[in-house]
Amino acid sequence: MESLPRLDFFELHDLDGTPPVLRTLHTESILTIYRLTDAAREYSRPLALALRSGADHRIVDLCSGSGGPVPLIQRRLHASSVHTQVTLTDLVPNVPAFERVSRRRAPGSCCSVDYVATSVDATDCRVEGTRTIYGAFHHFPPPLAARILQNAVDTRQPLVVVDTKRSWLYVLVFPFFLTLAVLLAAPFQRNPLPRYLLRLLLTYVVPVLPFMMFFDSVVSFLRMYGRAELRRIVDGLDGTESFTWTIGVEPGFTGAQYLIGIPRP
Ligand SMILES: C[S@@+](CC[C@H](N)C(=O)[O-])C[C@H]1O[C@@H](n2cnc3c(N)ncnc32)[C@H](O)[C@@H]1O
Repeated sequence: MESLPRLDFFELHDLDGTPPVLRTLHTESILTIYRLTDAAREYSRPLALALRSGADHRIVDLCSGSGGPVPLIQRRLHASSVHTQVTLTDLVPNVPAFERVSRRRAPGSCCSVDYVATSVDATDCRVEGTRTIYGAFHHFPPPLAARILQNAVDTRQPLVVVDTKRSWLYVLVFPFFLTLAVLLAAPFQRNPLPRYLLRLLLTYVVPVLPFMMFFDSVVSFLRMYGRAELRRIVDGLDGTESFTWTIGVEPGFTGAQYLIGIPRP
């Protein structure tokens, strides 16, 4: 199914000129979709596998957006007696969103969610713990993607990257479902009143948010990495042999494809 070539094109929410509030509304929509679809069930398995293979239970989530799926994954893992301490980070941290996520009670005193309020660049991260990148690796062209992995190798931190596998099915079908979710979920989105009203305006009156979700999801699915491309990047890293790398796809509707890197003893 990777006969589809990888096409690198820009996503609207990534553009420098995109107003931050629009980016926040968009990444909050992604968060709502995670909640509605229980994607965390499939997304939790690669992290569980990494933790079973000896990865640090302190999780440093890179590119967290408005919180991403990791706090939901933490709950799932907690239910199976796997306890984690999560730190959310981003190049442009959405501090109010991180604050809201960390205020929600962690699933037990053995688990916690905190955040770094300053910029953390995934290509040059100094925070210790198992790095996770959910739904964001495709944003990086191969040289930057390689720098993210190289940084994990150089600092000897375990890494779990989860994205969607590249396939026509996701390009042709998922953007419609995701856009429908934005249209249906807007009234139920928990936002402070001014942003709630802005969301309704930008969903139903001037439908910028549904358009953004449709456009960005088509582009996202076209620029997902295939397994062979991930393998090539991993093979080109300095010191790649000091890590054990696992690349695979979880069975299920999300098409969750993962890359796990664990430092060898
Ligand atoms: C699709 S969004 C959010 C992904 C989030 N994990 C989720 O699943 O909702 C991608 C995020 O990557 C962040 N980002 C882009 N370049 C980055 C970099 N070099 N280092 C860290 N974060 C970066 C953006 O600020 C944005 O919040």
